[in-house]
Amino acid sequence: MKKRNIIIDCDPGIDDIVALCFAVANEDKLNLLGITTVAGNQTIENVTNNALGLMSFLNKDIRIARGAKGPLLREKKPASNIHGSNGAGDYQLPHTKELYSNNAVMFMRDTIMSSEEKTTLVPVGPLTNIALLIKTFPEVAEKIELISIMGGSTDVGNVTPAAEFNIWADPEAARIVFDSKLPIVMSGLNVTHSTGLFRKDVDDLMKSSGKVTRMCGEMLNFYFRGDHVKKGTFTPIHDACAIMFLIHPELYKYRHMPVTVDCSEELSRGNTLCDTREWIDYGDMYPKVLTEVDMEKFREILLNNLYKLDELYK
Ligand code: RIB
Ligand code: CA
Repeated sequence: MKKRNIIIDCDPGIDDIVALCFAVANEDKLNLLGITTVAGNQTIENVTNNALGLMSFLNKDIRIARGAKGPLLREKKPASNIHGSNGAGDYQLPHTKELYSNNAVMFMRDTIMSSEEKTTLVPVGPLTNIALLIKTFPEVAEKIELISIMGGSTDVGNVTPAAEFNIWADPEAARIVFDSKLPIVMSGLNVTHSTGLFRKDVDDLMKSSGKVTRMCGEMLNFYFRGDHVKKGTFTPIHDACAIMFLIHPELYKYRHMPVTVDCSEELSRGNTLCDTREWIDYGDMYPKVLTEVDMEKFREILLNNLYKLDELYK
């Protein structure tokens, strides 16, 4: 099977880091052309350091480009309480790799346009870089295979009752992307609250003799403090969902539907109003919104791949 070209746009962030590990574990299916960073969970300096730190930890030569320092219009609000003061659950990653570019938008444009095959974008942070890319270089549209987004929700929010963090952080950027008519798959909280690991899984990771699994375990132990959805028994690993869909779409159910981003200043800021009225059959020109996931298969595949990395990166 031909490998899929991908660029992961992220704000590492603990679940971003686990998602990046999962992508690296699937390099037989995914051609990771690059990692771009965006301010979100933490400052652009911290999230970029964490992307460089993870590739140093894995000793992987993946090109990393630094992106937007903040949202298009709104104030930055790092989520230190969830991801720690450095964005990696206060885990100290090594730093041996150098930044490839300090301009993520130019890097994405050049990478997409120079690739023979189309490229899939996997944004798992605020959509600032993606909005700037498609507005600055509209020619990339014909070379984009898919945009697999972790963001939004068809039901509950997390940063507010109405909004998921990535969309809430930069609603204007999210509106630009969702209104772009580009092919989108949305992994919203309505499924990502079920895509993750149980407390015992993380305890086992922490006790592992493998360096990758132990690192993930220590970070996820910190992450458990933040996501109270299942009262400390289960921690969603939101960003891994946007990668998992590319490799195992069979785990999911979905429907195409319009997604409208609320750009107000009110309580509903960042809400993704998804038209879930089942009697209306929207065509595939609308975003593909994931509606159900096989939670147990997801957990099994993610764990197997993290333990696989221990063998590859001793
Ligand atoms: O709401 C979850 C999303 O916000 C994830 O991408 C997490 O990393 C944070 O960025
Ligand atoms: Ca993220």
